[in-house]
Amino acid sequence: MLSEPPDGTREAAASALSSAREFAFTDQHFQYLRRLVAQYAGISLTAAKRELVYGRITRRIRALGLSGFDAYCEILEHDPDTEIGQFINAITTNLTAFFRENHHFEFLGGTVVPDLYRRSTVPRIRIWSAGCSTGEEPYSIAMTLLEAQPAGRTADVAILATDIDTNVIATGAAGVYDNSRVEGIGAERLRRWFMSGTGGNAGRVRVRDELKRIIQFKPLNLMGAWPMKGPFDVIFCRNVVIYFDKETQRRLFNRYADLLAPHGQLVIGHSESLYNVSERFELTGRTIYRKIQ
Ligand SMILES: C[S@@+](CC[C@H](N)C(=O)[O-])C[C@H]1O[C@@H](n2cnc3c(N)ncnc32)[C@H](O)[C@@H]1O
Repeated sequence: MLSEPPDGTREAAASALSSAREFAFTDQHFQYLRRLVAQYAGISLTAAKRELVYGRITRRIRALGLSGFDAYCEILEHDPDTEIGQFINAITTNLTAFFRENHHFEFLGGTVVPDLYRRSTVPRIRIWSAGCSTGEEPYSIAMTLLEAQPAGRTADVAILATDIDTNVIATGAAGVYDNSRVEGIGAERLRRWFMSGTGGNAGRVRVRDELKRIIQFKPLNLMGAWPMKGPFDVIFCRNVVIYFDKETQRRLFNRYADLLAPHGQLVIGHSESLYNVSERFELTGRTIYRKIQ
């Protein structure tokens, strides 16, 4: 990424950049794409994201064999259904990892699951991973839930994993990862929950069906209508709302509160907070909130 030039040199830098570019990328192009992604996905792109947008959309322009940004914006304007999905897939940032922010999984296995077993002999456990990216988060939830089950006691467990980006949903549903993605997982866990690939799949692992069986991967735009009724015991929405403005966050957290069980918990990312955004939760742990109303 390029850093922002000091005042006064901005125009010169922009014109030097555009002459070095494969496709002309004007302020109007950027503002148009920025508006569209905010309207459709709630994602607020700052001016610092301009080069990122150029790079990612350039790949789409090449893939479609178009002449440039004018032609690309024309398609989005006049025939949005053909490209909006790919446009959003290109713009989203999908960084994730197995057991990222591990304290959330310790809380799930050490507090939430034992609580639910105290409430019921065969608890019904419902978790939503909202903005699940390529699946590492819901699979980490699934491992944690099954590992935390007391011996000889079953539960009715279901995890819903959703994301606006259809490519990452397909990766999650396939459950196949490069070995480098599971390096941080201990040997015992790895043996229990993954199979090593052979032949054409050497260098990869595949998640075992026992985990896959309890997760449903579905494309879902958090800004749109939600078909599910809940209630959920825990909603994980980590490192998603950092891209949304405060009003969008407020509406979203309200909808989460409506869908959570009375004892329900909301887990957000390390750089996110409900402070001054929602009054419907109380902080109970590190970026962990309990619904209060
Ligand atoms: C940085 S990833 C976080 C993945 C995972 N939750 C984690 O913390 O490791 C953010 C995800 O949010 C998704 N996302 C962004 N806007 C969304 C929206 N409006 N609806 C659903 N998902 C969205 C992106 O596609 C991306 O996969």
